Parts: sequence; C-alpha cells; structure tokens
Amino acid sequence: MSLLKPIDEDHGGKGPKKRAPRNRTLEVRGTEAKAFREGLLSVEGLKSESIVGRTILGDCFQAFDVLPRAIVDLLVLDPPYNLNKKFGGSTFSRVPVAEYTKWLKQLFVNVKPLLKPTATVYICGDWFTSASIFEAASEHFTVRNRITWEREKGRGALTNWKNSSEDIWFCTVSDRFAFNVDAVKMRRRVIAPYRDADGQPKDWNETGNGNFRDTHPSNLWTDITIPFWSMPENTDHPTQKSEKLIAKLVLASSNPGELVFDPFLGSGTTSVVAKKLGRQYCGIELEEAYALLAEKRLILAEGDRQIQGYSERVFWERNTLNVINSRAKCEGDLLPFDKLR
Ligand SMILES: C[S@@+](CC[C@H](N)C(=O)[O-])C[C@H]1O[C@@H](n2cnc3c(N)ncnc32)[C@H](O)[C@@H]1O
Repeated sequence: MSLLKPIDEDHGGKGPKKRAPRNRTLEVRGTEAKAFREGLLSVEGLKSESIVGRTILGDCFQAFDVLPRAIVDLLVLDPPYNLNKKFGGSTFSRVPVAEYTKWLKQLFVNVKPLLKPTATVYICGDWFTSASIFEAASEHFTVRNRITWEREKGRGALTNWKNSSEDIWFCTVSDRFAFNVDAVKMRRRVIAPYRDADGQPKDWNETGNGNFRDTHPSNLWTDITIPFWSMPENTDHPTQKSEKLIAKLVLASSNPGELVFDPFLGSGTTSVVAKKLGRQYCGIELEEAYALLAEKRLILAEGDRQIQGYSERVFWERNTLNVINSRAKCEGDLLPFDKLR
C-alpha cells in the first residue's frame, strides 16, 4: 500500500559527504551502521517482540495488521505529501487528489484500531495535500483545528506565490482527549508594556533582559525553522521536521509515560522528541538509511535532552532565547526565567 516507488540506482557504497567544518549534519558511519541495524525491528519480528522504544524497518501498512490494538495515545502522521519527492531509494510522484484521498482513507482504516479511544492524531501536509486530509480525516476522526506553520524556506516561483507554509491537522478519536495548554505556552517579547493602576506590569514579566509574556499557543506557528546544517538535530532527510515543532504536539497532546507512534518516522524526530520528553515511543520507516539515522539520534538523546527553542518549559519566539542565553552567559550562567525578573 506504499505510494513510494523504488528508484533503480545504487545507494550504497558512497563514502561520507564532504561538509564545511561547522556543518553539524548527523551521519551514520559505516562502522556504526551494523550496530544500529541490529537494533531495528522487522515486521516479521513484531509478533514476538515488544514495540515500545523501537524503530521498525518496513512498510507501515504491513505492520498495522500485526501491531497490538488500542495502545497508542498520540499518533503523528507525516506521510509523503502529494507532491514529487525523492526519499533515499524511493520516489513519490504526485497523484490526482482523489487518489491521494483514497490512500489516506485506507491509511486511517488501517491505523485506527491501534489507537486508544482517548487518542489524538496530527496529520501533516502542504496546502495541496490538505485538500485530501480534511476529507479523509473527517470520515474517521473529529477534526478540531488546522495549525499553519510558516516554513520560511521555499523555492520562489515566477508565476505563483512562493510556497512557505505547511498544515498540521489536529484530530481526535473521541471527545475525551488530553490537551495540556500550559505545557505549550509561548514566551514573547512585550511590544506594549501596559501597567496597572499601581504601576505593576499587566500580564507580563519585567526582566533585566527585556519584557516577556507567556501567551496561549495559537494555530499559526511562526517560531519554527526547518532543521539546517548548523543545528545538531539536522540530517540529510529531505523533509525532516524540527524537534521544536514535534515537541509542541507531544507536550500538548500526551502525558509522560504515554505511547507516541509515528508510522512515517523518517529520520526519527517524533521518537527522539518523545524520548526527550519522557514519553514511550515507536516508529516505522521504509528506508533503512533513515531508520539508522533514527537509531543514532535516539542514542544521542540519552545524553542530551535539549530541544532547540524550548527551555524553562516554554517555547521561545524565534531568536529570543539566543539573546537571553548570550546575555546570561556574559554574567557567567544560564539563568532560569524567574531568576531574571
Ligand atoms: C515526510 S517524511 C517524514 C519525516 C519525519 N517526520 C522526520 O522528521 O524525519 C515521510 C517518510 O515516510 C517514509 N515512508 C513512506 N512510505 C512509507 C511506508 N509505507 N511505511 C513506512 N515508511 C514510509 C519515507 O521513506 C519518509 O522517510
């Protein structure tokens, strides 16, 4: 049921890419690959082994039939969008809207039995793919919102508007679901620092490094970049999501210890973020090179729980945290927000 087609060319045997010295893109070296490969679970192995904390290498549609029922608390779906894209040794070609919608409906039919009645589902897509997502998701879930993420990088077009956004559809299985709004507050600079009659800040905090307010999260996300070469989370996956984006989904819609599942795992972002935030996780990926990257990132996450742009239990506006940290560093320390007041 995969819409990906194998590309008839050799993907092995290439040495590591030459990169600039400050480029932090993660790679799996030949020597590491063997050990990471041994950690992967195959679809055949699913009958006998626990899936928690594992990356499954294979076609998610084959795995769905074998996976335990009603175990998932949060499902993150970031499938190939309905556009032309190459994923390692496979390629996806745009299909008519009706065909992609049919494929999504089949995906939902297959994955739904794995969800708890209280589960949340997020589905990613670009504007074109969104046409299919809404129709297909409405048949199986309660569609509650569409988050629009401003994805700055994009190719300029001569006869169209540059495509600089993606959607993340927020759906639930029933009316009983988790939504931890306080866990996903956004710390913004205060533009208009109103004071009350006593001269005290109204709903904002005055600090030595500026004035900030923790605001309710909206469905328009402008604070997230795609991973790029100087970020330690970056890999060569062509459509990797940033940890900050997935962290918002995980924190809002799951609780510590619950199971987060991503059947189109790619380079492993969902599992890595779930691990960093104390959730259980499982992911499936068709391409071995990406599954191995996921394994490497999961191991690195054991020693590094940081998520860029998320600190002191709030998400920071783009560029704000750098300012705070660099000023704090001058004073010799990274100070928590309440100490900066
Ligand atoms: C949009 S990418 C996901 C990127 C991911 N969120 C990340 O941060 O790296 C979709 C991924 O799904 C994988 N894929 C496509 N069809 C699949 C299938 N039937 N089963 C499992 N994985 C599949 C592709 O190889 C690709 O890596």
